[in-house]
Amino acid sequence: MKIAMASDHGGFELKEILKRHLLSLSYDVIDFGCFCEESVDYPDYIKQAAQAVSKQETEKAVVVCGSGVGASIVANKIPGIRAVLCTSEYLAEYSRLHNNANVIAFGGRITTEDLAKRYLGIWLTTEYEAGRHQKRLDKITAIEKNPYFEESQ
Ligand code: RB5
Repeated sequence: MKIAMASDHGGFELKEILKRHLLSLSYDVIDFGCFCEESVDYPDYIKQAAQAVSKQETEKAVVVCGSGVGASIVANKIPGIRAVLCTSEYLAEYSRLHNNANVIAFGGRITTEDLAKRYLGIWLTTEYEAGRHQKRLDKITAIEKNPYFEESQ
């Protein structure tokens, strides 16, 4: 599986740790930066990883900033992206089962290396359940395409 990655300076260290972890598990990684701890603006980097997923250049993306909040907000602005800010095993599992999340965001300043690896492992190996959830995802796509259109339930 091909995975896009990106971070800002606040997520750089965890991004590097997770990149080495994924490579050791034989995942194919495309790293969109940043490439050092110099202060940068997270939208510039995170959007590139999310765009790679949106354009189907990679199946999923892992994005990291200091808190994970900015990274998840940016990723969710890109069409077709369903990003989860992951802070628990439950979120790792259910964001795949019910939401078919295709981007996972971490806060490099709030999530330990061991927990991030554990959440990422669950997230990458859990399949979307589809079924009753698909019509809800279709409604998200409809909102994305036409945010102010009101349809009857
Ligand atoms: C950078 O200091 C920090 O604001 C950023 O990494 C992120 O936490 C934003 O949401």
